[in-house]
Amino acid sequence: MTIGNAPAGDLLALGIETSCDETAAAVVRRRADGSAEILSDRIFSQTDAHALYGGVVPEIAARAHLDRLDGLIEDAMAEAGASWADLDLIAATAGPGLIGGVMVGLATGKALSLVHAAPLQPVNHLEAHALSARIADETPFPYLLLLVSGGHTQLIAVEGVGRYRRLGTTIDDAAGEAFDKTAKLLGLGHPGGPEVERRAAAGDPRRFEMPRPLLKHAGCDFSFSGMKTAVRVCAEALTEGGRRLSETDVNDLCAAFQTAAADHLAARTARAMRGFSGEGAGRLVVAGGVAANKAIRARLEAAASEEGFRLIAPPLRLCTDNAAMVAWAGLERLAAGLADDPEAAYAASARARWPLDPTPRTRAYGSGRKGAKA
Ligand code: KG4
Ligand code: ZN
Repeated sequence: MTIGNAPAGDLLALGIETSCDETAAAVVRRRADGSAEILSDRIFSQTDAHALYGGVVPEIAARAHLDRLDGLIEDAMAEAGASWADLDLIAATAGPGLIGGVMVGLATGKALSLVHAAPLQPVNHLEAHALSARIADETPFPYLLLLVSGGHTQLIAVEGVGRYRRLGTTIDDAAGEAFDKTAKLLGLGHPGGPEVERRAAAGDPRRFEMPRPLLKHAGCDFSFSGMKTAVRVCAEALTEGGRRLSETDVNDLCAAFQTAAADHLAARTARAMRGFSGEGAGRLVVAGGVAANKAIRARLEAAASEEGFRLIAPPLRLCTDNAAMVAWAGLERLAAGLADDPEAAYAASARARWPLDPTPRTRAYGSGRKGAKA
């Protein structure tokens, strides 16, 4: 259920984000003209807490959110110079994500909303990513979104607030997840993406052959498990007989993997752009941590210009997980008259899965973990 009347004038929201391993709180203003002003944007990255394990440990993440969130919210409110009475909205991520963390953020949002009599808006984390490009440069609808993070790899036609059509998704690993697993296999740190990029810059991408997945499949879905497995097979062959991987081996494997990942992302996105061009958009937005990768960005840039699209990449701070985009998504809903009514907002529960598109189609490709990252 939604409140139908959109309020006029400036709107102010507190955003809360706890769906993965960043604990974040931000205060954002939406001016009456539709532009955004980030008044504060606090992030505590839990990377160190998880580094030892080579990946995000859900239980540790939930506890760290619990420890840090209250302080971050206080800091964000103070930095913004906002009082609780100023808030038009408290927007909290309600999914998809690691359930323990999402519960911490949503319960905190509900409690603050009740205590301070500020309306609550549960936010879909994917919607927050999808609308983040409109914070920095007011990107008009419609646009094509490539969301590439550690948890998601999706192509989405963003037609308006609350109007999303999923064109493609990964059928196995998310792109960032494949970078992280490849890094772990090669003994590099976590998160693996930045380290793989650094090593790839010194490597030869032609020494090892990597698969180019789904070449014969129509549609815009992705697959990264084949190239991840190819790295493992090559590494196992190199280390037969107890030999250790040399620095050059690691660099070359990273270069081969990154090139294959970039080619695949660009090829599938090009297909989506071809299907989308009739809709008069010409805009490709990239979001998610993997969009930080310069080689991937360059490949997407080239593919976009070939298809007559403009590549729009929000500033990196807005590309990766943050609370400003959560506050903004809540504000966009409120301004569009699509905010939840109080009953629905308080009844919302934390969700591990929450697809943006209400009727996503599923495809069959044989084996693979379909759905988990979808
Ligand atoms: O969007 P994000 O901060 O968090 C979510 O996963 O939601 O993305 C983090 C992911 C990690 O998998 C990380 O390894 C990847 O983005 N990443 C990169 C790079 N920087 C971050 N992957 C490739 N190249 C990079 N430079
Ligand atoms: Zn995210």
